[in-house]
Amino acid sequence: MSAARILVLHGPNLNLLGIREPGVYGTTTLEGINQALTELACELSLELDIVQSNSEGALVDAIQGAMGKCQGILINPAAYTHTSVAIRDAIAATALPAVEVHLSNVHAREPFRSHSFIAPVAVGQICGFGPDSYLLGLRALAKRLGK
Ligand code: DQA
Repeated sequence: MSAARILVLHGPNLNLLGIREPGVYGTTTLEGINQALTELACELSLELDIVQSNSEGALVDAIQGAMGKCQGILINPAAYTHTSVAIRDAIAATALPAVEVHLSNVHAREPFRSHSFIAPVAVGQICGFGPDSYLLGLRALAKRLGK
């Protein structure tokens, strides 16, 4: 069986990881997270397409672009988690299994962060484990895909 391809999406402000509110998000950079994901993907026989954007439309375009190309989506929608019907609809439209991840425990922070527009169209949500949320999410997706 050929390697499954996964779209990894990082939403707004995640390009600033490492310097952005380190007390909340830690000191690992986005590059560090992507490196760890790439190593794990190799172990799990997955190929990754990694995209970060601060723009909602670009994230929707990337999700649409996964149709017919990728077998699953690993997404940290960041602030768009709590606002974006467009990203939710794009995930639903692709019908690809998606896992939602967050570095912080969104349920233990401001009340508005507890609501996710994405969770109802995701296979599941993993939050609160820092960069490990992404790695756990990739493992969960691999298992879902029979990898
Ligand atoms: C986040 C949590 C969101 O509430 C926030 O807007 C982010 C990052 C996280 O990974 O913990 O930008 O998605």
